[in-house]
Amino acid sequence: MTHQTDQFKKVISHAKEYGFVFPSSEIYEGLSAVYDYGQNGTALKNNIREYWWKAMVQLNENIVGIDAAILMHPTTWKASGHVDAFNDPLIDNKISKKRYRADILVEDYVAKIEAKIEKEVKKAAKRFGDAFDEKEFRMTNSRVISNQEKAEAILKRLGRSLEKEDLFDVKSLIEELEISCPESGSREWTDVKQFNLMFGTKLGASADSAMDLYLRPETAQGIFVNFLNVQKTGRMKLPFGIAQTGKAFRNEIVARQFIFRMREFEQMEMQFFIPPGTQQEWYKKWKENRMKWHLALGMGKENYRFHDHEKLAHYADAASDIEFQFPFGFKELEGIHSRTDFDLSSHEKFTGKKLRYFDPELNENYVPYVVETSIGLDRMFLAVLSNALTEEKLEGGATRVVLKFPYALAPNKAAVLPLVKKDGLPELARRIVEDLKWDFQTIYDEKDAVGRRYRRQDALGTPYCITVDHQSLEDQSVTLRERDTMKQERITIADLKTIIQQQVAVSSILKKL
Ligand code: GAP
Repeated sequence: MTHQTDQFKKVISHAKEYGFVFPSSEIYEGLSAVYDYGQNGTALKNNIREYWWKAMVQLNENIVGIDAAILMHPTTWKASGHVDAFNDPLIDNKISKKRYRADILVEDYVAKIEAKIEKEVKKAAKRFGDAFDEKEFRMTNSRVISNQEKAEAILKRLGRSLEKEDLFDVKSLIEELEISCPESGSREWTDVKQFNLMFGTKLGASADSAMDLYLRPETAQGIFVNFLNVQKTGRMKLPFGIAQTGKAFRNEIVARQFIFRMREFEQMEMQFFIPPGTQQEWYKKWKENRMKWHLALGMGKENYRFHDHEKLAHYADAASDIEFQFPFGFKELEGIHSRTDFDLSSHEKFTGKKLRYFDPELNENYVPYVVETSIGLDRMFLAVLSNALTEEKLEGGATRVVLKFPYALAPNKAAVLPLVKKDGLPELARRIVEDLKWDFQTIYDEKDAVGRRYRRQDALGTPYCITVDHQSLEDQSVTLRERDTMKQERITIADLKTIIQQQVAVSSILKKL
């Protein structure tokens, strides 16, 4: 097993064991690529959503938030292009009968080339030690250069073929690269076909009058159809944004990698409406803003990179992904798209209604352009969780498993632990919980030895443990143990709230933006 898959397996089992993520309807053997969030996962997810919402809506005077319905008039999806163009190229292996996304087969092949390059670089770094110049090595080593060129050429050809809908060439590429079925090892492939990802459902009771609907595949359209409602009722002036979080549904074919690619997931999207011609400037700004939002969490600058798109979605004139280093490599976490006036213009055409903005400065009506930021909440959850999971060797040889969440995102902020279950210590500990619970999610735990309770809180990512002992009864002081350093400090009960607040408040990260 490689180190990467090993680490990923640990993330998945930790998520289950500690009440973060469960397979959906597990007692019925689950439902593929659908997951439920447990007691700690829900708290973590809420905290990530809160960080996003506050950064968008609370900190920006010109961004407001809405909550549109999941079900929408079906013509919405004709106008948005999803009925005709929201397809994945599929290929079946004739021997295993397994179905794959053709583009992902090719991308996985490229990922292997990239892994070879990284291995080469690591080896050289070890060989040359402090004298190693990575940039120079990447630019001059012949094996690295030729692998890099090969990877780029493959991705370029794939992008071009998909853009031109040349599915024949996608199959040829798979054959030329001698890609085999990961399951059967066979290279006998069917032709590549397009498959629409939207889930259908019906509205109405009788079979004749029922209307065919779709579950929304993105939250963005709920924003576009409400553009005028919000602009008029909020008297919004361009540039302004509308933010929304909510469920989206996609009948993903290659649904794997845990909550990375799900069939039901949550998006956090913001459409920023701007005057035509200013899209490049705003696209650049939002790329920067969104990267800043990620970096403020302190999960390591080296774990993020931009990937500018060659192949653009049907609505975009520029697009970039923020990629994150997941346990299975760098993958898309968030998309920033310059969507032009595609959506609003298209809704105008399909409804016959004007979706325009009167610009008082130009004395002119026009359809605004849009720059969108779109991040999957579940994917962000996976980024935070996999980055946090750490195994540490302690003095004496024991290992400690700890979730090093950014404090503001941790599901529980403090745990109060009476040293023993007698002598009035539980009562005092309960009083501390009663006092803190107004401000923080606080846990009370009296079971097992205190060392084991510390480990339990480490595994849940709780930033602070407050231990109540006999001295506490005499002088109203407790020990405050910090999760990452394991340092313990004696402080008075009266100071607890202020000390914890300074470290765990979401505003402490928001202030970095
Ligand atoms: N409105 C634009 C849009 O939906 P997208 O690139 O298709 O763009 C945006 O999706 C983000 O939603 C992705 O960057 C990813 O974080 C998340 N996402 C997309 N499909 C997903 C899936 N099947 N499971 C989990 N998250 C997904």
